[in-house]
Amino acid sequence: MQDKTASKEDMLNKGNEFSTGEKPKVLTTTDFFTVAEERRSVRKYDTNYKMDEKEIRDILEAAILAPSSSNLQSWRFLVIEDQEAKEKLLPMAFNQQQVVEASAVIAVLGKEDAYKDANKIYGQLVENGSLPEEAKEGYVNNIVDMYSSASRDKRTRIAMIDGGLISMQLMLAAKAKGLDTVPMGGFDEKAFVEAFNVPENYEPVMLIALGKGEVAGFPKNRLPLDDILAWNKYE
Ligand SMILES: Cc1cc2nc3c(=O)[nH]c(=O)nc-3n(C[C@H](O)[C@H](O)[C@H](O)COP(=O)(O)O)c2cc1C
Repeated sequence: MQDKTASKEDMLNKGNEFSTGEKPKVLTTTDFFTVAEERRSVRKYDTNYKMDEKEIRDILEAAILAPSSSNLQSWRFLVIEDQEAKEKLLPMAFNQQQVVEASAVIAVLGKEDAYKDANKIYGQLVENGSLPEEAKEGYVNNIVDMYSSASRDKRTRIAMIDGGLISMQLMLAAKAKGLDTVPMGGFDEKAFVEAFNVPENYEPVMLIALGKGEVAGFPKNRLPLDDILAWNKYE
């Protein structure tokens, strides 16, 4: 009898089988709706395409404009672009080839105790004249009270939401710059944290492979909007 179960590695690498084999579409516009429509998870990359630091930073600068809980910006990035480091990551990401073929893998991390940065963040507003010092004190005290009394689990959930928002913005920014991405939750978090010395207060959100796509991701299929939409309350 045929074995219908697939290993995690097989499953994750299967994404390529649905592809039409075409090159990703070259966008001639950065119109939001076109970018959103054309962003697809791309799993085959041009291995010769090297991104320089500026190109990566420009995408991250656009990504960090995303909203975050209390503006605490709990996201952190580990950019893995050194080939040896990507090779090290490969088995931890169940041998998903985009890890070594894309120009870089961005590990998006969530800092669970980001409330400790409140003073610095709200202090910037005082410095640029947007907020009086007394108001800042109030904001910061509230934030510290609220987050420090929440469980680590709750704070991690918040960091995961922030991390999801920034990841999406990063992927759209990359597409608008003519590049491609694939988000990856398929990796051994524990092994990754250990191997890359991730600080104890940073929780992995996802890995994002980033580079020049060689083969387009499979065309979008989505549940019809009416299958997932309710108005005002559930019956
Ligand atoms: C949180 C998350 C984890 C994902 N993990 C993987 C992964 O490990 N490997 C992979 O090839 N694709 C992964 N994907 C990509 C999804 O398969 C893809 O987004 C989905 O099929 C929709 O296709 P699209 O991104 O082209 O619109 C992940 C997506 C998300 C949002």
